[in-house]
Amino acid sequence: MSLEVLDEYKLIDKLEATHELEKEEWIYLLEHQSKEFSEYLFKKSDRVRRENYGTDVFVRGLIEFSNYCKNDCYYCGIRCGNPKADRYRLTEEQILECCKEGYELGFRTFVLQGGEDPHYSDEDICRIIKSIKAKYPDCAVTLSIGEKSYESYKKYYEAGADRYLLRHETANEEHYRKLHPENLSLENRKKCLFNLKEIGYQVGAGFMVGSPYQTKECIADDMIFLHELQPHMVGIGPFITHHDTPFKDKENGTMEETLFLLGLIRLMLPKVLLPSTTALGTIHPLGREYGIQVGANVVMPNLSPVGVRDKYLLYDDKICTGDESAQCKTCLQKRMESIGFNVVTSRGDHKDYKKDIPDRDTKEE
Ligand code: SAM
Ligand code: FES
Repeated sequence: MSLEVLDEYKLIDKLEATHELEKEEWIYLLEHQSKEFSEYLFKKSDRVRRENYGTDVFVRGLIEFSNYCKNDCYYCGIRCGNPKADRYRLTEEQILECCKEGYELGFRTFVLQGGEDPHYSDEDICRIIKSIKAKYPDCAVTLSIGEKSYESYKKYYEAGADRYLLRHETANEEHYRKLHPENLSLENRKKCLFNLKEIGYQVGAGFMVGSPYQTKECIADDMIFLHELQPHMVGIGPFITHHDTPFKDKENGTMEETLFLLGLIRLMLPKVLLPSTTALGTIHPLGREYGIQVGANVVMPNLSPVGVRDKYLLYDDKICTGDESAQCKTCLQKRMESIGFNVVTSRGDHKDYKKDIPDRDTKEE
């Protein structure tokens, strides 16, 4: 393949038609990001999202239940090596209280996210999942608690967890090494994702945009990995510095690049569930609205108790840390309506994968 004959507009058309590009083609595309070119992409990505999901935006209630973490990822504010992080854990009762509030506000998915906190045994996690499922059988439970063994993932699934979010962070080996200490490996991260899929979870992968040392080649590797994994969800958001991490002097990722990648992911995985993230709303006041306009279809308002919100600080200046859950929900609803979209309260499962994954709503007991 000769690079001279590549044309970025034709590559977008090819991606739309075949949902796949080769590595050199991805790099070429990424190198040609511009305002005009992005507009060409966004027309298509918006159309593809509308064809698959109309103007529906799914909400997932995020419960950040612990900011203790045994890992030391260089980019993250709650890394174990940050002695200044003000640590907290929610009790099971507090978690259930968040769900109650969320349920009353119309949420039908609860995302339990936390650092990798060894305080919670598998039995604790299973008990929490079962309590939520017993009280709210019509709701989906999503876990985002990092790398665990196959057996642990299986136990959580059997306890009722439906989905699992585990960003791969970067699919480029060299880049992975620059973001993480020695004891973490890309190989294990990827294995976890394939294990989760095999067990039957709806799986979310993803990465930070503009993380330190990220190159166009790294992003090309991310896109190729996502194509291989075929996740049900993809979470991407800009990298934002945290003042107490080794990356405190690095540059933030940009909104423009994040939007560009959201558009490309929508074309590559037309039915994917694609959040417009809090990080995107943090680097620009209208970031989440723009994310939806270019092809995202999920928002994740915070359901954590207000008293702990400003402690789950992965990066500086995080938005929504002072607002009540109800305020956050109303705020997001208004924001979505202001751009012609509507927040829906259904569980919002991945439509295309219904045939491939056990559906807990219809599965025989
Ligand atoms: N411990 C779980 C895990 O590792 O998947 C879930 C919590 S982890 C803090 C959630 C995500 O936050 C990470 O996957 C990472 O992509 C993102 N994150 C961490 N630090 C960030 C930063 N400085 N800027 C933007 N996103 C960040
Ligand atoms: Fe949380 Fe606007 S979404 S306050």
